[in-house]
Amino acid sequence: MRSRCLPETGEKMPKSTSQFVCSECGYTSPKWLGRCPSCEKFNTLVEELAVPAGPKKQSTGTRPTLTKAPVPLSQVKFESFDRISTGNSELDIVLGGGIVRGSLVLVGGDPGVGKSTLLTQVAAHLSQKHKVLYLSAEESCSQVKLRAERLKLNSDNLYLLNETNLDSAEEAFYDAEFVVVDSIQAVYTDLLSSSAGSVGQVRECAGKLMRIAKSRGITFFIIGHVTKEGTLAGPKVLEHIMDTVLYFEGERTESFKILRAVKNRFGSVQEVGVFEMTSEGILGVSDYSALFLSDSRGEAAGSAVTPGETGNRCMMVEIQTLMTKTSYGLPRRMSLGIDINRLIVLIAVLEKRCGLSLGNQDIYLNAMGGIKITEPSADLAVCAALASAEKNLPIDKDTAVFGEVGLTGEVRPVSYSEKRVNECLKMGFKRVILPARNYKACQKFKDKIELVPVSYVGQMIKNLFPPKKND
Ligand SMILES: Nc1ncnc2c1ncn2[C@@H]1O[C@H](COP(=O)(O)OP(=O)(O)OP(=O)(O)O)[C@@H](O)[C@H]1O
Ligand SMILES: [Mg+2]
Repeated sequence: MRSRCLPETGEKMPKSTSQFVCSECGYTSPKWLGRCPSCEKFNTLVEELAVPAGPKKQSTGTRPTLTKAPVPLSQVKFESFDRISTGNSELDIVLGGGIVRGSLVLVGGDPGVGKSTLLTQVAAHLSQKHKVLYLSAEESCSQVKLRAERLKLNSDNLYLLNETNLDSAEEAFYDAEFVVVDSIQAVYTDLLSSSAGSVGQVRECAGKLMRIAKSRGITFFIIGHVTKEGTLAGPKVLEHIMDTVLYFEGERTESFKILRAVKNRFGSVQEVGVFEMTSEGILGVSDYSALFLSDSRGEAAGSAVTPGETGNRCMMVEIQTLMTKTSYGLPRRMSLGIDINRLIVLIAVLEKRCGLSLGNQDIYLNAMGGIKITEPSADLAVCAALASAEKNLPIDKDTAVFGEVGLTGEVRPVSYSEKRVNECLKMGFKRVILPARNYKACQKFKDKIELVPVSYVGQMIKNLFPPKKND
Protein backbone atom coordinates (compact mmCIF):
# COMPACT_ATOMS: atom_id res chain seq x y z
CA MET A 1 0.00 0.00 0.00
CA ARG A 2 1.16 3.53 -0.68
CA SER A 3 1.81 5.40 2.53
CA ARG A 4 -0.67 8.07 3.47
CA CYS A 5 1.83 9.66 5.88
CA LEU A 6 3.22 13.02 4.99
CA PRO A 7 7.00 13.55 5.08
CA GLU A 8 8.63 14.38 8.39
CA THR A 9 7.28 17.91 8.41
CA GLY A 10 5.11 17.40 11.43
CA GLU A 11 2.01 18.07 9.32
CA LYS A 12 -1.13 16.20 10.21
CA MET A 13 -2.20 13.44 7.87
CA PRO A 14 -5.34 14.39 5.90
CA LYS A 15 -8.58 12.83 7.06
CA SER A 16 -9.33 9.57 5.32
CA THR A 17 -11.88 9.87 2.51
CA SER A 18 -12.20 6.15 2.04
CA GLN A 19 -13.65 3.22 3.86
CA PHE A 20 -13.54 -0.54 3.45
CA VAL A 21 -16.79 -2.20 2.48
CA CYS A 22 -17.47 -5.93 2.48
CA SER A 23 -18.51 -6.96 -1.03
CA GLU A 24 -20.62 -9.80 0.39
CA CYS A 25 -22.65 -8.21 3.20
CA GLY A 26 -21.95 -4.45 2.99
CA TYR A 27 -20.23 -4.19 6.40
CA THR A 28 -18.09 -1.03 6.56
CA SER A 29 -14.83 -0.59 8.41
CA PRO A 30 -12.40 2.38 8.55
CA LYS A 31 -9.45 0.01 8.09
CA TRP A 32 -8.77 -3.09 6.05
CA LEU A 33 -9.55 -6.42 7.66
CA GLY A 34 -8.68 -9.85 6.33
CA ARG A 35 -11.95 -11.31 7.56
CA CYS A 36 -15.31 -9.57 7.64
CA PRO A 37 -16.53 -9.53 11.28
CA SER A 38 -20.14 -9.54 10.08
CA CYS A 39 -20.36 -12.37 7.50
CA GLU A 40 -17.01 -13.94 8.48
CA LYS A 41 -15.88 -14.28 4.85
CA PHE A 42 -12.18 -13.81 4.05
CA ASN A 43 -10.74 -11.19 1.70
CA THR A 44 -14.02 -9.48 0.89
CA LEU A 45 -13.25 -5.96 2.15
CA VAL A 46 -12.67 -3.54 -0.73
CA GLU A 47 -11.67 0.10 -0.43
CA GLU A 48 -14.33 2.58 -1.52
CA LEU A 49 -14.81 6.32 -1.39
CA ALA A 50 -16.72 7.36 1.72
CA VAL A 51 -19.62 9.59 0.70
CA PRO A 52 -20.99 11.59 3.63
CA ALA A 53 -24.64 10.83 4.16
CA GLY A 54 -26.90 13.84 3.50
CA PRO A 55 -29.91 14.82 5.66
CA LYS A 56 -32.69 12.29 5.29
CA LYS A 57 -35.58 13.53 3.17
CA GLN A 58 -39.02 12.75 4.49
CA SER A 59 -41.74 12.10 1.93
CA THR A 60 -44.33 14.87 2.24
CA GLY A 61 -46.86 13.14 0.02
CA THR A 62 -46.94 16.07 -2.46
CA ARG A 63 -46.07 15.42 -6.11
CA PRO A 64 -42.38 16.23 -6.70
CA THR A 65 -41.33 18.23 -9.74
CA LEU A 66 -39.37 16.22 -12.28
CA THR A 67 -36.01 17.49 -13.41
CA LYS A 68 -36.16 15.23 -16.50
CA ALA A 69 -39.52 14.22 -17.94
CA PRO A 70 -39.93 10.74 -19.46
CA VAL A 71 -40.29 10.78 -23.27
CA PRO A 72 -42.57 8.42 -25.26
CA LEU A 73 -40.51 5.92 -27.28
CA SER A 74 -42.05 7.13 -30.56
CA GLN A 75 -40.82 10.67 -29.90
CA VAL A 76 -37.25 9.81 -28.97
CA LYS A 77 -34.91 11.52 -31.41
CA PHE A 78 -32.60 9.02 -33.03
CA GLU A 79 -28.95 9.93 -32.78
CA SER A 80 -26.84 8.17 -35.31
CA PHE A 81 -23.53 6.91 -33.99
CA ASP A 82 -20.54 8.57 -35.49
CA ARG A 83 -18.27 5.65 -36.33
CA ILE A 84 -14.63 6.28 -37.01
CA SER A 85 -12.32 3.74 -38.63
CA THR A 86 -9.38 2.61 -36.51
CA GLY A 87 -7.31 1.95 -39.63
CA ASN A 88 -7.35 -1.77 -38.93
CA SER A 89 -10.12 -3.52 -40.86
CA GLU A 90 -10.23 -6.53 -38.52
CA LEU A 91 -10.54 -4.32 -35.43
CA ASP A 92 -13.27 -2.29 -37.16
CA ILE A 93 -15.23 -5.51 -37.79
CA VAL A 94 -14.95 -6.56 -34.13
CA LEU A 95 -16.04 -3.11 -32.97
CA GLY A 96 -19.13 -3.39 -35.19
CA GLY A 97 -17.97 -1.09 -38.00
CA GLY A 98 -15.57 1.33 -36.31
CA ILE A 99 -15.20 3.10 -33.00
CA VAL A 100 -18.12 5.12 -31.65
CA ARG A 101 -17.23 8.58 -30.38
CA GLY A 102 -17.42 8.95 -26.60
CA SER A 103 -17.28 5.23 -25.93
CA LEU A 104 -15.02 3.21 -23.66
CA VAL A 105 -13.30 0.19 -25.16
CA LEU A 106 -11.49 -2.24 -22.91
CA VAL A 107 -8.85 -4.43 -24.55
CA GLY A 108 -7.82 -7.33 -22.34
CA GLY A 109 -5.22 -9.99 -22.97
CA ASP A 110 -2.32 -12.04 -21.65
CA PRO A 111 1.03 -10.35 -21.04
CA GLY A 112 2.95 -9.79 -24.27
CA VAL A 113 0.05 -10.72 -26.55
CA GLY A 114 0.35 -7.36 -28.32
CA LYS A 115 -2.15 -5.01 -26.68
CA SER A 116 0.19 -2.02 -26.58
CA THR A 117 1.36 -2.69 -30.14
CA LEU A 118 -2.18 -2.79 -31.52
CA LEU A 119 -3.27 0.34 -29.69
CA THR A 120 -0.10 2.26 -30.63
CA GLN A 121 -0.94 1.50 -34.27
CA VAL A 122 -4.57 2.55 -33.76
CA ALA A 123 -3.51 5.74 -31.94
CA ALA A 124 -1.08 6.63 -34.75
CA HIS A 125 -3.78 6.06 -37.39
CA LEU A 126 -6.37 8.14 -35.53
CA SER A 127 -3.84 10.92 -34.97
CA GLN A 128 -3.78 11.59 -38.73
CA LYS A 129 -7.10 13.41 -38.33
CA HIS A 130 -7.65 13.74 -34.57
CA LYS A 131 -5.72 14.70 -31.47
CA VAL A 132 -4.74 11.54 -29.60
CA LEU A 133 -3.18 11.07 -26.17
CA TYR A 134 -1.35 7.86 -25.22
CA LEU A 135 -1.17 7.63 -21.43
CA SER A 136 1.55 5.12 -20.78
CA ALA A 137 1.62 4.13 -17.13
CA GLU A 138 3.66 0.97 -17.72
CA GLU A 139 6.37 2.12 -20.10
CA SER A 140 8.39 5.30 -20.44
CA CYS A 141 7.80 7.67 -23.37
CA SER A 142 11.05 6.54 -24.96
CA GLN A 143 9.94 2.89 -24.80
CA VAL A 144 6.71 3.81 -26.58
CA LYS A 145 8.73 5.86 -29.10
CA LEU A 146 11.00 2.86 -29.67
CA ARG A 147 7.99 0.70 -30.46
CA ALA A 148 6.55 3.39 -32.74
CA GLU A 149 9.89 3.59 -34.61
CA ARG A 150 9.88 -0.18 -35.09
CA LEU A 151 6.34 0.02 -36.43
CA LYS A 152 7.38 2.99 -38.62
CA LEU A 153 4.78 5.25 -37.02
CA ASN A 154 5.20 8.95 -36.55
CA SER A 155 2.77 11.74 -35.93
CA ASP A 156 2.68 15.28 -34.58
CA ASN A 157 -0.82 14.78 -33.32
CA LEU A 158 -0.04 11.77 -31.13
CA TYR A 159 0.91 12.92 -27.65
CA LEU A 160 2.61 10.67 -25.12
CA LEU A 161 2.31 11.03 -21.37
CA ASN A 162 4.09 8.88 -18.83
CA GLU A 163 2.00 9.20 -15.67
CA THR A 164 0.53 6.77 -13.17
CA ASN A 165 -1.55 9.27 -11.21
CA LEU A 166 -4.87 9.58 -12.99
CA ASP A 167 -5.73 12.81 -11.16
CA SER A 168 -2.60 14.49 -12.53
CA ALA A 169 -3.20 13.08 -16.01
CA GLU A 170 -6.86 14.16 -16.10
CA GLU A 171 -6.04 17.69 -17.26
CA ALA A 172 -4.35 16.32 -20.39
CA PHE A 173 -7.43 14.29 -21.37
CA TYR A 174 -9.55 17.37 -22.03
CA ASP A 175 -7.48 18.46 -25.03
CA ALA A 176 -7.64 15.06 -26.73
CA GLU A 177 -10.38 13.40 -28.79
CA PHE A 178 -9.02 9.90 -28.26
CA VAL A 179 -7.14 8.62 -25.21
CA VAL A 180 -5.34 5.30 -24.80
CA VAL A 181 -4.81 4.25 -21.16
CA ASP A 182 -2.05 1.63 -20.87
CA SER A 183 -3.08 0.07 -18.48
CA ILE A 184 -5.99 0.45 -16.03
CA GLN A 185 -4.14 -1.71 -13.47
CA ALA A 186 -1.14 0.63 -13.50
CA VAL A 187 -2.96 3.92 -12.79
CA TYR A 188 -4.26 5.10 -9.43
CA THR A 189 -6.28 7.90 -7.93
CA ASP A 190 -5.32 9.84 -4.80
CA LEU A 191 -8.82 9.40 -3.43
CA LEU A 192 -8.03 5.87 -2.28
CA SER A 193 -5.01 4.73 -0.31
CA SER A 194 -4.76 1.21 -1.73
CA SER A 195 -2.13 0.46 -4.33
CA ALA A 196 -2.65 0.63 -8.11
CA GLY A 197 -4.26 -2.51 -9.51
CA SER A 198 -6.34 -3.23 -6.39
CA VAL A 199 -10.06 -3.82 -6.87
CA GLY A 200 -10.99 -0.45 -5.35
CA GLN A 201 -8.48 1.50 -7.46
CA VAL A 202 -9.43 -0.21 -10.73
CA ARG A 203 -13.11 0.44 -10.08
CA GLU A 204 -12.61 4.07 -9.07
CA CYS A 205 -10.26 4.84 -11.99
CA ALA A 206 -12.59 3.18 -14.52
CA GLY A 207 -15.54 5.13 -13.07
CA LYS A 208 -13.60 8.36 -13.40
CA LEU A 209 -12.73 7.63 -17.06
CA MET A 210 -16.37 6.80 -17.75
CA ARG A 211 -17.55 10.12 -16.33
CA ILE A 212 -15.00 12.02 -18.44
CA ALA A 213 -15.91 10.02 -21.59
CA LYS A 214 -19.63 10.55 -21.26
CA SER A 215 -19.51 14.21 -20.24
CA ARG A 216 -16.84 15.32 -22.76
CA GLY A 217 -17.37 12.89 -25.65
CA ILE A 218 -13.77 11.70 -25.39
CA THR A 219 -13.18 8.16 -26.64
CA PHE A 220 -11.12 5.91 -24.41
CA PHE A 221 -9.23 2.74 -25.29
CA ILE A 222 -8.32 1.08 -22.01
CA ILE A 223 -5.85 -1.79 -21.74
CA GLY A 224 -6.60 -4.36 -19.06
CA HIS A 225 -4.57 -7.29 -17.80
CA VAL A 226 -6.02 -10.75 -17.41
CA THR A 227 -5.64 -13.04 -14.43
CA LYS A 228 -4.16 -16.53 -14.46
CA GLU A 229 -7.65 -17.91 -15.10
CA GLY A 230 -7.98 -15.79 -18.23
CA THR A 231 -10.54 -13.29 -16.95
CA LEU A 232 -9.95 -9.56 -16.71
CA ALA A 233 -8.08 -8.65 -13.55
CA GLY A 234 -10.14 -6.45 -11.27
CA PRO A 235 -13.81 -6.28 -10.42
CA LYS A 236 -16.58 -7.43 -12.72
CA VAL A 237 -17.93 -3.88 -12.49
CA LEU A 238 -15.03 -2.86 -14.78
CA GLU A 239 -16.70 -4.81 -17.59
CA HIS A 240 -20.10 -3.32 -16.70
CA ILE A 241 -18.78 0.23 -17.00
CA MET A 242 -17.26 -0.33 -20.45
CA ASP A 243 -19.22 0.01 -23.70
CA THR A 244 -17.12 -2.61 -25.46
CA VAL A 245 -14.94 -5.35 -23.98
CA LEU A 246 -12.48 -7.09 -26.29
CA TYR A 247 -10.21 -10.03 -25.49
CA PHE A 248 -6.97 -10.56 -27.31
CA GLU A 249 -6.31 -14.31 -27.39
CA GLY A 250 -3.40 -16.33 -28.62
CA GLU A 251 -0.32 -18.08 -27.35
CA ARG A 252 2.64 -15.78 -26.88
CA THR A 253 4.78 -17.97 -29.10
CA GLU A 254 2.25 -18.14 -31.93
CA SER A 255 2.11 -15.29 -34.41
CA PHE A 256 -1.66 -15.53 -34.96
CA LYS A 257 -3.96 -13.81 -32.48
CA ILE A 258 -7.73 -13.67 -32.23
CA LEU A 259 -9.58 -10.59 -31.03
CA ARG A 260 -12.99 -11.39 -29.67
CA ALA A 261 -15.76 -9.07 -28.47
CA VAL A 262 -17.30 -10.30 -25.23
CA LYS A 263 -19.49 -7.25 -24.79
CA ASN A 264 -20.46 -4.56 -27.29
CA ARG A 265 -23.10 -1.90 -26.78
CA PHE A 266 -22.74 -0.77 -30.39
CA GLY A 267 -22.46 -4.02 -32.30
CA SER A 268 -22.59 -7.78 -32.29
CA VAL A 269 -20.44 -9.93 -30.01
CA GLN A 270 -20.42 -12.60 -32.69
CA GLU A 271 -17.51 -11.06 -34.58
CA VAL A 272 -13.88 -12.04 -34.21
CA GLY A 273 -10.79 -10.54 -35.78
CA VAL A 274 -7.73 -12.51 -36.84
CA PHE A 275 -4.35 -10.81 -36.53
CA GLU A 276 -0.80 -11.70 -37.27
CA MET A 277 2.12 -10.36 -35.24
CA THR A 278 4.88 -9.32 -37.63
CA SER A 279 7.98 -7.15 -37.24
CA GLU A 280 5.94 -4.30 -38.80
CA GLY A 281 3.30 -4.66 -36.10
CA ILE A 282 -0.04 -6.38 -35.81
CA LEU A 283 -1.74 -6.81 -39.14
CA GLY A 284 -5.27 -8.00 -39.81
CA VAL A 285 -5.50 -11.29 -41.70
CA SER A 286 -8.44 -11.51 -44.07
CA ASP A 287 -7.58 -14.88 -45.63
CA TYR A 288 -7.76 -16.73 -42.35
CA SER A 289 -9.44 -20.01 -43.16
CA ALA A 290 -6.36 -22.09 -43.96
CA LEU A 291 -4.24 -20.59 -41.16
CA PHE A 292 -5.04 -23.32 -38.71
CA LEU A 293 -4.20 -26.25 -40.99
CA SER A 294 -0.82 -27.96 -41.30
CA ASP A 295 0.90 -29.10 -44.51
CA SER A 296 1.37 -32.66 -43.25
CA ARG A 297 -2.39 -33.18 -42.92
CA GLY A 298 -3.46 -36.58 -44.24
CA GLU A 299 0.02 -38.06 -43.94
CA ALA A 300 0.48 -38.52 -40.20
CA ALA A 301 -1.90 -40.34 -37.89
CA GLY A 302 -3.64 -38.39 -35.11
CA SER A 303 -4.91 -35.33 -36.96
CA ALA A 304 -8.46 -34.34 -37.86
CA VAL A 305 -9.95 -31.17 -39.32
CA THR A 306 -13.12 -29.46 -38.14
CA PRO A 307 -14.93 -26.33 -39.37
CA GLY A 308 -14.87 -24.21 -36.22
CA GLU A 309 -17.33 -21.39 -35.80
CA THR A 310 -15.82 -18.38 -34.10
CA GLY A 311 -18.21 -15.51 -34.07
CA ASN A 312 -19.70 -14.94 -37.48
CA ARG A 313 -16.75 -16.61 -39.14
CA CYS A 314 -16.10 -20.18 -39.90
CA MET A 315 -12.56 -21.45 -40.08
CA MET A 316 -11.03 -24.83 -40.64
CA VAL A 317 -9.06 -25.93 -37.58
CA GLU A 318 -6.79 -28.93 -37.39
CA ILE A 319 -6.69 -30.92 -34.17
CA GLN A 320 -3.56 -32.97 -33.62
CA THR A 321 -3.05 -35.69 -31.04
CA LEU A 322 -0.03 -37.68 -30.04
CA MET A 323 -0.07 -40.91 -28.04
CA THR A 324 2.86 -42.51 -26.29
CA LYS A 325 2.92 -45.46 -23.94
CA THR A 326 2.65 -44.41 -20.28
CA SER A 327 5.95 -44.90 -18.49
CA TYR A 328 4.55 -44.25 -15.01
CA GLY A 329 1.39 -45.64 -13.45
CA LEU A 330 -0.90 -42.71 -14.17
CA PRO A 331 -1.34 -41.72 -17.86
CA ARG A 332 -0.72 -38.04 -18.69
CA ARG A 333 -3.27 -35.92 -20.52
CA MET A 334 -2.28 -32.52 -21.92
CA SER A 335 -4.34 -30.18 -24.03
CA LEU A 336 -3.65 -26.89 -25.80
CA GLY A 337 -6.60 -25.01 -27.24
CA ILE A 338 -9.32 -27.36 -25.96
CA ASP A 339 -10.55 -27.68 -22.39
CA ILE A 340 -8.65 -30.52 -20.70
CA ASN A 341 -11.81 -31.75 -18.95
CA ARG A 342 -13.55 -32.04 -22.31
CA LEU A 343 -10.63 -34.14 -23.58
CA ILE A 344 -10.80 -36.44 -20.54
CA VAL A 345 -14.57 -36.94 -21.04
CA LEU A 346 -14.08 -37.78 -24.73
CA ILE A 347 -11.30 -40.26 -23.90
CA ALA A 348 -13.67 -41.98 -21.47
CA VAL A 349 -16.44 -42.10 -24.12
CA LEU A 350 -14.06 -43.66 -26.68
CA GLU A 351 -12.87 -46.27 -24.16
CA LYS A 352 -16.30 -47.24 -22.92
CA ARG A 353 -18.47 -46.88 -26.04
CA CYS A 354 -16.03 -47.69 -28.84
CA GLY A 355 -13.68 -50.11 -27.12
CA LEU A 356 -10.51 -48.10 -27.83
CA SER A 357 -7.70 -48.83 -25.44
CA LEU A 358 -6.40 -45.48 -24.19
CA GLY A 359 -5.87 -46.20 -20.47
CA ASN A 360 -2.18 -47.01 -20.87
CA GLN A 361 -1.38 -44.10 -23.21
CA ASP A 362 -0.12 -40.58 -22.48
CA ILE A 363 -2.24 -38.29 -24.66
CA TYR A 364 -1.24 -34.84 -25.93
CA LEU A 365 -3.68 -32.67 -27.89
CA ASN A 366 -3.09 -29.44 -29.76
CA ALA A 367 -5.41 -27.17 -31.75
CA MET A 368 -3.18 -25.81 -34.52
CA GLY A 369 -2.13 -22.18 -34.73
CA GLY A 370 -2.74 -21.39 -31.06
CA ILE A 371 -6.50 -21.08 -31.53
CA LYS A 372 -8.77 -21.76 -28.56
CA ILE A 373 -11.86 -23.82 -29.31
CA THR A 374 -14.67 -23.45 -26.82
CA GLU A 375 -17.62 -24.85 -28.77
CA PRO A 376 -18.65 -28.51 -28.46
CA SER A 377 -18.82 -29.01 -32.24
CA ALA A 378 -15.10 -29.92 -32.17
CA ASP A 379 -15.86 -33.03 -30.02
CA LEU A 380 -16.21 -35.35 -33.01
CA ALA A 381 -12.93 -34.14 -34.51
CA VAL A 382 -11.16 -34.75 -31.16
CA CYS A 383 -12.58 -38.30 -31.17
CA ALA A 384 -11.52 -38.78 -34.81
CA ALA A 385 -7.97 -37.57 -34.06
CA LEU A 386 -7.75 -39.84 -30.99
CA ALA A 387 -9.04 -42.86 -32.92
CA SER A 388 -6.59 -42.14 -35.74
CA ALA A 389 -3.68 -41.94 -33.27
CA GLU A 390 -4.76 -45.12 -31.51
CA LYS A 391 -5.07 -47.07 -34.77
CA ASN A 392 -1.96 -45.36 -36.18
CA LEU A 393 -3.87 -44.70 -39.40
CA PRO A 394 -4.06 -41.20 -40.94
CA ILE A 395 -7.42 -39.64 -41.81
CA ASP A 396 -7.91 -38.78 -45.48
CA LYS A 397 -6.84 -35.14 -45.95
CA ASP A 398 -10.03 -34.22 -47.82
CA THR A 399 -12.31 -35.24 -44.93
CA ALA A 400 -13.65 -32.83 -42.31
CA VAL A 401 -15.64 -33.74 -39.19
CA PHE A 402 -17.96 -31.84 -36.88
CA GLY A 403 -20.53 -32.66 -34.18
CA GLU A 404 -21.04 -32.71 -30.43
CA VAL A 405 -20.49 -36.00 -28.59
CA GLY A 406 -22.66 -37.05 -25.65
CA LEU A 407 -21.67 -39.34 -22.80
CA THR A 408 -23.58 -42.26 -24.32
CA GLY A 409 -21.47 -41.92 -27.47
CA GLU A 410 -24.27 -40.32 -29.51
CA VAL A 411 -23.43 -37.55 -31.97
CA ARG A 412 -25.58 -34.52 -31.29
CA PRO A 413 -26.48 -31.74 -33.75
CA VAL A 414 -24.68 -28.40 -33.66
CA SER A 415 -25.58 -24.89 -34.77
CA TYR A 416 -24.57 -23.27 -38.10
CA SER A 417 -24.25 -26.66 -39.84
CA GLU A 418 -24.85 -25.20 -43.32
CA LYS A 419 -22.18 -22.58 -42.81
CA ARG A 420 -19.71 -25.23 -41.69
CA VAL A 421 -20.39 -27.47 -44.71
CA ASN A 422 -20.14 -24.45 -46.99
CA GLU A 423 -16.73 -23.59 -45.51
CA CYS A 424 -15.53 -27.19 -46.08
CA LEU A 425 -16.67 -26.90 -49.68
CA LYS A 426 -14.93 -23.55 -50.10
CA MET A 427 -11.69 -24.97 -48.71
CA GLY A 428 -11.70 -27.86 -51.18
CA PHE A 429 -12.72 -30.69 -48.80
CA LYS A 430 -14.51 -33.57 -50.52
CA ARG A 431 -16.21 -35.31 -47.59
CA VAL A 432 -17.85 -34.11 -44.37
CA ILE A 433 -18.88 -36.35 -41.49
CA LEU A 434 -21.70 -34.58 -39.65
CA PRO A 435 -24.44 -35.31 -37.08
CA ALA A 436 -27.38 -37.18 -38.63
CA ARG A 437 -29.78 -34.56 -37.28
CA ASN A 438 -27.92 -31.81 -39.17
CA TYR A 439 -28.04 -33.74 -42.45
CA LYS A 440 -31.44 -32.44 -43.60
CA ALA A 441 -30.35 -28.81 -43.35
CA CYS A 442 -27.20 -29.51 -45.38
CA GLN A 443 -28.77 -31.67 -48.09
CA LYS A 444 -28.54 -28.87 -50.66
CA PHE A 445 -24.75 -29.37 -50.72
CA LYS A 446 -24.89 -33.10 -51.42
CA ASP A 447 -24.18 -32.75 -55.15
CA LYS A 448 -21.00 -30.79 -54.50
CA ILE A 449 -19.58 -32.55 -51.45
CA GLU A 450 -20.06 -36.02 -49.96
CA LEU A 451 -22.08 -35.82 -46.73
CA VAL A 452 -21.81 -38.68 -44.25
CA PRO A 453 -24.43 -38.45 -41.48
CA VAL A 454 -23.58 -40.33 -38.27
CA SER A 455 -25.56 -40.91 -35.06
CA TYR A 456 -22.85 -42.55 -32.93
CA VAL A 457 -19.10 -42.05 -32.55
CA GLY A 458 -18.57 -45.73 -33.40
CA GLN A 459 -20.24 -45.13 -36.77
CA MET A 460 -17.81 -42.32 -37.53
CA ILE A 461 -14.80 -44.47 -36.60
CA LYS A 462 -16.06 -47.28 -38.85
CA ASN A 463 -16.51 -44.81 -41.65
CA LEU A 464 -13.05 -43.29 -41.28
CA PHE A 465 -11.26 -46.61 -40.88
CA PRO A 466 -13.37 -49.24 -42.67
CA PRO A 467 -12.40 -52.79 -41.64
CA LYS A 468 -10.29 -54.47 -44.34
CA LYS A 469 -11.98 -57.31 -46.25
CA ASN A 470 -9.67 -60.01 -44.88
CA ASP A 471 -10.02 -58.72 -41.25
N1 LIG B 1 10.96 -6.79 -33.42
C1 LIG B 1 9.87 -7.50 -33.24
N2 LIG B 1 9.38 -8.24 -34.23
C2 LIG B 1 8.27 -8.96 -34.08
N3 LIG B 1 7.56 -8.99 -32.95
C3 LIG B 1 7.98 -8.28 -31.92
C4 LIG B 1 9.16 -7.50 -31.99
N4 LIG B 1 9.33 -6.89 -30.80
C5 LIG B 1 8.31 -7.28 -30.01
N5 LIG B 1 7.51 -8.11 -30.68
C6 LIG B 1 6.29 -8.78 -30.18
O1 LIG B 1 5.54 -7.88 -29.45
C7 LIG B 1 5.06 -8.53 -28.28
C8 LIG B 1 4.90 -7.52 -27.18
O2 LIG B 1 3.90 -6.66 -27.58
P1 LIG B 1 3.22 -5.64 -26.59
O3 LIG B 1 4.24 -4.95 -25.77
O4 LIG B 1 2.31 -4.80 -27.43
O5 LIG B 1 2.37 -6.62 -25.69
P2 LIG B 1 1.42 -6.24 -24.48
O6 LIG B 1 0.21 -7.11 -24.62
O7 LIG B 1 1.20 -4.77 -24.42
O8 LIG B 1 2.28 -6.73 -23.25
P3 LIG B 1 2.22 -6.24 -21.72
O9 LIG B 1 1.07 -6.94 -21.11
O10 LIG B 1 3.52 -6.70 -21.17
O11 LIG B 1 2.08 -4.76 -21.74
C9 LIG B 1 6.10 -9.55 -27.93
O12 LIG B 1 5.51 -10.67 -27.31
C10 LIG B 1 6.65 -9.92 -29.27
O13 LIG B 1 6.00 -11.08 -29.75
MG1 LIG C 1 1.81 -3.34 -22.97
